[in-house]
Amino acid sequence: MIISVLQAIQILASQDVVAVPTETVYGLAADASSDLAVARIFETKGRPQFNPLIIHIWDVQQIQEFGVFNEAVKKLADAFWPGPLTVVVQLKSNSPLSKLASAGLPTIGVRIPQHPVALELLKAFGKTLAAPSANKSGRISPTESHHVSQSLGEGIPILEGGKSTVGLESTIVDVSYDQPYLLRHGAILKDQLESVLGCDVLDKTMPEDGKVLSPGQMLSHYAPRLPLRINVTEPRARDALLGFGPMPNATLNLSPTNDLVEAAANLFSMLHQLDSPQYQGIAVAPIPDEGLGRAINDRLQRAADPRN
Ligand code: TXA
Ligand code: MG
Repeated sequence: MIISVLQAIQILASQDVVAVPTETVYGLAADASSDLAVARIFETKGRPQFNPLIIHIWDVQQIQEFGVFNEAVKKLADAFWPGPLTVVVQLKSNSPLSKLASAGLPTIGVRIPQHPVALELLKAFGKTLAAPSANKSGRISPTESHHVSQSLGEGIPILEGGKSTVGLESTIVDVSYDQPYLLRHGAILKDQLESVLGCDVLDKTMPEDGKVLSPGQMLSHYAPRLPLRINVTEPRARDALLGFGPMPNATLNLSPTNDLVEAAANLFSMLHQLDSPQYQGIAVAPIPDEGLGRAINDRLQRAADPRN
């Protein structure tokens, strides 16, 4: 369903998703500061995991609202933005962005897209947008508006922007550490990054398919400090109980009404709140393993697994 920028802004303001053209691929955009809006991205894509999303901005100064703006970021921004490069930076501790957008990681990917429609929408909405590619999980990325409706259904609101000129997802480079890492290949090449940064960039992409390593493999995951148990029906005395569904004894409740979108929206912030020394552990009630529940359970299993 093709919509106007004005309609897109209304949809975004109501915490829902809109497909947006960028020069790389079409993105499925939502208000990056809203847990609920970001949860709807994952629901729409049918992602079995919460991967961290890319935050889209229109002015480089916006990074300072949520992230650490170091010298490397400045060099890369000057050289390549607007354009097909995502830069991973440290999140500020008081970042207003949804924790679900960064999948609980201490870092966040950010870029200024080059497509005029994407820039027009960003400026008109006036807030940052989280946007993964606008396709069902595991399918190829859309480079034309009809690819988006083919993958996500005719009902999905889309801004028309013609064919994506680059047609490949952005290059991702992580400069949140002293040593820059290339996390995904794209139109901006490693050599170009190295000459702008004036140092080596280590290739951490997976050669077979160019996918990034999952954040659990290479980055320190946010896992609660307290031991976490899942599928708990009988919490221990000093446990904080994270409920789901009607549960009067829950310390916090992901969704008293069994709403999985609401539960996903609350997951990271509630885990954060319960990870407090006043408790001895976090007990999480059973979550149905369907729809967004699969992604919630995937994340909870990782948080419960002592190897992570
Ligand atoms: O070209 C693009 O980047 C498109 C357009 C819409 O901007 N977006 C896109 O998003 O390709 P998505 O979700 O399909 O890919 C985002 C990638 C994921 O593979 C994710 O793991 C990585 O970015 N990513 C985001 N934040 C990260 C972080 N803090 N650390 C490591 N990887 C991160
Ligand atoms: Mg994708």
